[in-house]
Formats: sequence, C-alpha cells, structure tokens
Amino acid sequence: MHIPYADRLSPQTVQFLRSQPGRLWIGGRWRESLNGHTLTKDEPSTGQPLFTAFAGDADDVDAAVQAARHVFDNPNHPWRRMTPYDRERLLHRLADLLETHHVQLAELLTLENGKPLSAAEAEVNASVRMFRYYAGWPTKIEGDVKPVSIPHRLNYTLREPVGVVGAIIPWNFPLSMIAWKLAPALAAGNCVILKPAEQTPVTAIRVAELVQEAGFPDGVVQLINGLGETAGAALTAHPGVDKIAFTGSTEVGKIILRASAGNLKRVSLELGGKSPQIVFDDADLPRAIAGVAYGIFSNAGQSCNAGSRLFVQRSAYERVVAGVAERAAGLRVGAGFDSGVDIGPLISREQLERVSRYIVLGQEQGGVLRCGGTRPSHASADGYFLAPTIFESVRDDMAIVREEIFGPVLVATPFDSLEEVAARANDTTYGLAAGIWTRDIGRAHALAALLRAGTVWINCYSQFDPASPFGGYKQSGFGREMGHEALELYTQVKSVWVGL
Ligand code: NAI
Ligand code: MG
Repeated sequence: MHIPYADRLSPQTVQFLRSQPGRLWIGGRWRESLNGHTLTKDEPSTGQPLFTAFAGDADDVDAAVQAARHVFDNPNHPWRRMTPYDRERLLHRLADLLETHHVQLAELLTLENGKPLSAAEAEVNASVRMFRYYAGWPTKIEGDVKPVSIPHRLNYTLREPVGVVGAIIPWNFPLSMIAWKLAPALAAGNCVILKPAEQTPVTAIRVAELVQEAGFPDGVVQLINGLGETAGAALTAHPGVDKIAFTGSTEVGKIILRASAGNLKRVSLELGGKSPQIVFDDADLPRAIAGVAYGIFSNAGQSCNAGSRLFVQRSAYERVVAGVAERAAGLRVGAGFDSGVDIGPLISREQLERVSRYIVLGQEQGGVLRCGGTRPSHASADGYFLAPTIFESVRDDMAIVREEIFGPVLVATPFDSLEEVAARANDTTYGLAAGIWTRDIGRAHALAALLRAGTVWINCYSQFDPASPFGGYKQSGFGREMGHEALELYTQVKSVWVGL
C-alpha cells in the first residue's frame, strides 16, 4: 500500500507500516480475525487509504476474554502473584519504551488522526507521564483496619482488582485514551481488552507491541481492533467481562450501560460535552481571548472538553468576540506534517459531514457566522478540513447551542449577570467542564461552585495532569479518570472479619 507522507516519516515508521502489522493481539499471539474481516482506514488530510487492520468480531472478543480470564482466574498465574514492586517496574518499562519510540508514536498519531505533529508529540509525552504516575501506585494501594465496636473481632479491608476490563476508546486522542485506561487498570492488577476506535487502529497496535516488549505476561492485555457495533458491542455484552471503561458519545454510552446489565458490569463513562467558557469584563482579556480560542479550536474542536459555548459579559462582548475571530482567522489549517500548522483536518469524511450539517442548520435556525463555516481554500480539497468557525446571534434553544458538534465551531452570546450566566451555562444535558475568566477572585470561586461540571478551569483552560481527576456531571458520564480517583474504577473493596 502507498504510504502517505512517506518522505516525512522516520525509517522506523515506514518499516512498521510496510510490515502490514494489522493483527489482533490475543493471549500473547498476533492473529488475524477469525472471519478474516478487515477495516480500512484513510489518512484524513488526503483521504487516501492508509492502513488495513483486521477487524475482530464476537468470536475474537470471546477468545480475548478467555485469554484474560485464564490469567485473572488463576491465582498462581505470574500476573496474579506479581508483587506491587514488580508491577511498578513493568509500568515504568512501558513508559521507557513509549519514550524511546516517541518519534514513531507521534508520527503514527499524526498519520491516523491528522493532528499537527507538535500536538501528537505532546500527546506522547502526556501518555508517558500517565504511565509513570500510575507506576507509582501499585505500592500505595492500601486497605485499612476498621474501628468496629464488636468485641473480639478484627475487621480490615483489602483493595483488589476488578478483574477483566474492557476499554472502549475514541479516536480524538488515540494514545492518551489508551494511557488513561491502561495505566490505572494495570497498576491495580487487572487484565485489559482494548478496543480502539475503528478510525484509529494503528497507534494502538504499536502500543500493544511495546506492552509485549515491556514484558507484561501473555493475556494481561489484548488488543481487538474492530467496529463498535460488532466488537464493541460483543465486549460490552460478554459475561466474562467485569468492567467496561468507555470514552465516546453519550448515545453509545447509554447503549453500553444497557448492554452491561446482563452480568451487572461495573461501568465508567466519559461522554460528550458542551462546555461553557464564561468571560467577565474585568478579565485579562488578551489571555481570555487566547484561552477561549485554544479551548475550542485545538484538536480541531474534537475534544470532549471543548469550550464550545462562549458567554461574554455584555460590555466586553464585541472586543472578546472580535479577538477570538481574529485569532481564528490567524490559525493555520493544514496537514499535520506541514510545519506551522495549528489545526489539522477532522478525523473522517463522516465527521466533516456531521459538523458541516450543524453549520448549515445553525444558519437555518437564525445563527450568524462571524467567521469560518467553510472549508479553507488553501488546504487540499480531498482532506477533511474545516476553518475555525464562530456563530453569533444564537438562542439558547438552538441545536448548535445544545448539541455536541465535535468540530471547530464556537457559539458566542452576551450575558449581563453572574446569576444569569450560571443558569444559562448549566442549561445543558452535559456537565463535563467549564471555563471562567475574571480578576475577581470571589466571583470566580462563587461561580465555580454554581457550575454543574466535573472540571472548572479559572483563568486557564484544558489543563490536564495525571494527579487531577477528570470526568462528567449529568449526561457527560460518571466515574473519574486520573488521580487516585481512577483507582476506584479499577479496584473493589473486600472486608475481612476475624474472630479473635
Ligand atoms: P462513538 O461513541 O460511536 O465511538 C466511540 C467508541 O465506541 C469507538 O471505539 C466505537 O467503536 C465504540 N462503539 C460505537 N458503538 C458501539 C456499541 N454499540 N457498543 C460498543 N462500543 C461502541 O463515537 P463516534 O461515532 O466516533 O463519534 C460520534 C460523535 O460522538 C462525535 O461527533 C462526538 O460528538 C462524540 N464523541 C465524543 C467523544 C468524547 O471524547 N467525549 C469521543 C468520540 C466521539
Ligand atoms: Mg458512532
């Protein structure tokens, strides 16, 4: 197969792609899908075919679950007997390998997702840090002794792994999403079946190879590329899976919750958002403008936490919107491998069409385009490019204000008072994140308390750290990833009583 951008890639990446590595990884063996089905993935800045991966189905998922159960259900298996210290060492070894191969991983990310190479490099670094953070945890996961009031009884707790975890992840941050799930799950001693998005099968394969190279025992991690409706659905319904960790659309989150009922799987869901960015007139406006533009346009708006609803205090409204529009116009949209590019293409033709439909609908419903709304003229016509877009004159009941667009589309509206903006910011089914820009520290904290969102950023936006928990209120999901909070998702508590 022709490799797009072959002249820009390191020899290691070209060699990896030439070796046709599109297999499933089950029980420590690389194999084809049982029914021979494949999925073909295109390169988003050219629309050219990039990669063919074997696509697993229910039978492959079953084999992966058997392999994981074989490990987890055997108390003498090396993974089950492994000391916390040795789990720590394995996680660090994996982090070392990700670091060693950071150039190749960033190239694969840019190739399959389209994001600028600098953003891909940042994603690799963040993922290394995630594995190192959780490498520190195996030796610190503790139970405790309970002060029970029954004489001659000792009661203590053990914190144990949940078992076999199905991780179903999206395509917007293909490597970070692996790290967010794999690192805490492995730190806690679980087995994992990873189901990447069908739009991004490639980086996951390279990571699985590195998991193998790091020395995790066979069957601790399996990789099943495949479609959501087949492989994902089979994983969610499988009675041998103890937990599903999902990131993706709210629509699929609901399907997963229902499908998990059969054996009452533990479920954690990190879903969509329609996060508000609230700018008061006393804010450091240049900083706020930069933060608002970054919050919506980075990753071409394809972030669960995208700050897609802009509320500006009326007296500063025109200045802030003009500032964000000016920045939007200055952002370079182009292929991720081109130097100086700020925004890559959207992930797929389907996503471009989906976002474009919202742009038409927004205008039909009375929204007015301040900028963008079109495909940039300088970019390749076959790529899935879209210019950064700002809508004004929107009403709070419009589809473009209520629904997650998942593209570089911002809706802007003025507000007058804190009470008003708090109510309007909360008038959404989502509750993932929010941004507040003001120099009034009391007002900032008062509003942070009022907002029904899992993360609030004050005078900054899109800040992530392995130590800080992230997750949704309302229909943005439940469960917290990162921090010690994520260990709650991957462990369960056993209470042990002893008669003395
Ligand atoms: P999606 O929710 O369908 O896909 C996410 C993951 O779920 C993929 O791995 C997919 O294969 C899997 N999946 C799909 N259907 C499934 C099923 N029935 N059972 C089990 N797994 C299933 O998201 P999609 O279709 O790629 O994007 C559509 C919209 O979803 C986007 O426009 C965006 O609004 C939202 N989205 C939100 C994300 C977030 O991070 N919050 C990430 C990706 C999409
Ligand atoms: Mg879908």
